[in-house]
Amino acid sequence: MNTRIVKMEEENLDVQALQEAGTLIKAGGLVAFPTETVYGLGGDALNGASSGKIYAAKGRPSDNPLIIHIARMEDLGYIVKEVPEAAYKLAQRYWPGPLTMIFDKAECVPRETTGGLDTVAVRMPSNQIARALIREAGGYIAAPSANLSGRPSPTSARYVIEDLEGRVDMIIDGGGADLGLESTIVDLTGDKPTILRPGYITEEMLEETLGQVEIDKTIVDGNSRQAPKAPGMKYRHYAPKGTLLIVEGEADERISYINRQISLQKEKGKKTGVIAADETAGKYFADSVKSVGKRSDEEQIARALFRVLREFDDEEVQAIYAESFESRGVGCAVMNRLLKAAGHQVIKL
Ligand code: TXA
Ligand code: MG
Repeated sequence: MNTRIVKMEEENLDVQALQEAGTLIKAGGLVAFPTETVYGLGGDALNGASSGKIYAAKGRPSDNPLIIHIARMEDLGYIVKEVPEAAYKLAQRYWPGPLTMIFDKAECVPRETTGGLDTVAVRMPSNQIARALIREAGGYIAAPSANLSGRPSPTSARYVIEDLEGRVDMIIDGGGADLGLESTIVDLTGDKPTILRPGYITEEMLEETLGQVEIDKTIVDGNSRQAPKAPGMKYRHYAPKGTLLIVEGEADERISYINRQISLQKEKGKKTGVIAADETAGKYFADSVKSVGKRSDEEQIARALFRVLREFDDEEVQAIYAESFESRGVGCAVMNRLLKAAGHQVIKL
């Protein structure tokens, strides 16, 4: 398949290209596009065959449901059975934005889109390219992150092209993603609102609006035997090609432990890497040391993480060590992704 690649800026939309992209989606085609979180791989959410194509293009198991992206609040009612009060409150505060809500689905939503579930995930992105594309495509775009299954979510078009060129009809390059981590997912179908995937909208922020919210325990606890409620959270994910070990402990101890490991790996002829905060990045002797930002700036760390994981792949680094970060606020989402990338391999000093 020949993939058309189109560049545009959020501030200067290419209306004609967006119309063409919308037409492609309406005809059952696939278009990758930027959102404020990560790039998405879009197809017509109300067309089961399109969702089937999305799974195939990503190499994704078809029991892992897709998020439906909408551009207007009034379009929500058509795809869900009922809009609970909590959803109106959250939408007012956080939509458009990096929050996905789970509802009971309406008949018109095909089971291919929801991975066989009776519930449906919905998000209204804030990125202007995404919003215009959704409107041109008829209002409902199913879009998982635009990576091959198992790889880190793409935070720039470069990585979408790397994973999906030749597998989709069009890729819209809208520059770097503002946030760099996927949306927070909150399930509104049970007795209490429950966070299924942590993200930029934190537990504290949701509690300000809703009162107490639960958090799916399996997302922070690697040893849990329970299946996570978001089917996608059970798969090994974001994994770099090299091994990745998270090292937790006081700075000095951590630095000497990691440097010792690096020497051992180098003796074995392995190419080594470290993921560190600005404060300590200069202390490591690895072949490639990447800083994700100041330790106190969790948002910057969130923005850098997936890019850094991909860069280690590009550099063919074989043994990667990561400092561990604060798991408060957005840090909770950062550590959730880092732990998954490491297959929960953590050394506590
Ligand atoms: O920020 C984002 O959410 C990005 C951009 C493109 O919008 N999308 C994204 O989609 O991260 P994806 O498919 O990579 O992750 C969606 C997650 C998966 O873990 C999936 O299992 C879960 O959402 N999910 C979708 N529908 C669900 C449902 N009905 N019930 C529970 N979990 C659901
Ligand atoms: Mg994904």
